[in-house]
Amino acid sequence: MTVAPERDEQELMAGFEATIERHDRIEPRDWMPEGYRRTVVRQVAQHAHSEIIGMQPEGNWITRAPSLRRKAILLAKVQDEAGHGLYLYSACETSGVSRDELTEMLIGGRQKYSSIFNYPTLTYADVGTIGWLVDGAAICNQVPLCRTSYGPYGRAMIRVCKEESFHQRQGYELLATMMRGTDEQRAMVQESVDRFWWPALMMFGPPDDDSPNTAQSMAWGIKRNTNDDLRQRMVDMTVPQAEALGVTLPDPELRWNEERQAHDFGTPDWDEFKDVISGNGPCNAQRLEHRRRAWEDGAWVREAATVFARRTEADREAAR
Ligand SMILES: [Fe+2]
Ligand SMILES: [Fe+2]
Repeated sequence: MTVAPERDEQELMAGFEATIERHDRIEPRDWMPEGYRRTVVRQVAQHAHSEIIGMQPEGNWITRAPSLRRKAILLAKVQDEAGHGLYLYSACETSGVSRDELTEMLIGGRQKYSSIFNYPTLTYADVGTIGWLVDGAAICNQVPLCRTSYGPYGRAMIRVCKEESFHQRQGYELLATMMRGTDEQRAMVQESVDRFWWPALMMFGPPDDDSPNTAQSMAWGIKRNTNDDLRQRMVDMTVPQAEALGVTLPDPELRWNEERQAHDFGTPDWDEFKDVISGNGPCNAQRLEHRRRAWEDGAWVREAATVFARRTEADREAAR
């Protein structure tokens, strides 16, 4: 007896929903609604692209690191980001999109990456500030994603998060060292924090009432917290760290709210955010151009590797 296709689909959907309800993982071979698959691809790809593009602002300082120790730390950190990008591209490939397609969507401007990487790194203090605030924001965002419903994404996040916490600490330690230095170094740290504070808060995305995808992503367990929720967490986590460092966060509205047991804070400039997201930030063109060039320059390596794999396979066949 054959079952009507709609009936089939209903049963599959019920199974999918039951898995989500149990907070179990959806695995690549499981049936999933097309919208879920598309959302996973969009979010994981955007995350992978952010890791890869995110290598540029800090990579900019590798040749000018002030000591061998700082250079070794920065190299290790930037390499970690490449690794994160690769895990995430692999996680994304499990849902049926190839890495080539993903890269082409990035360089063609059809997929996005985090707005933060479109800001320039003007001084070495920015390396510290990025570690402290940008990797700090990444941790707030990614720790709950270890429990995301899509299995390959959640597993990638577990490993990534361990490395992010090293990134945040090396940034904080760099800034703490500079704050113990000269007045000029302290001023350099403050100036860097002034530039990065608001863009770091924008990393969580638009406010909840202006975030069209949040409700569906939460219902599917892809996202575990709303943007505003995570932003609040970031502020509450960072304020005591800023006090310990001796830097001022550039927000006159920032204060502890006894009733809410959380900090009140000002509103990021959402027009600036929209502008940067739509391609008009200070470094958007430069970041994409650099990525495009690296992709083109690497074409012969991909080609050689493909031919080598094909030949090796043919040799193995012939030897059988
Ligand atoms: Fe990362
Ligand atoms: Fe990182």
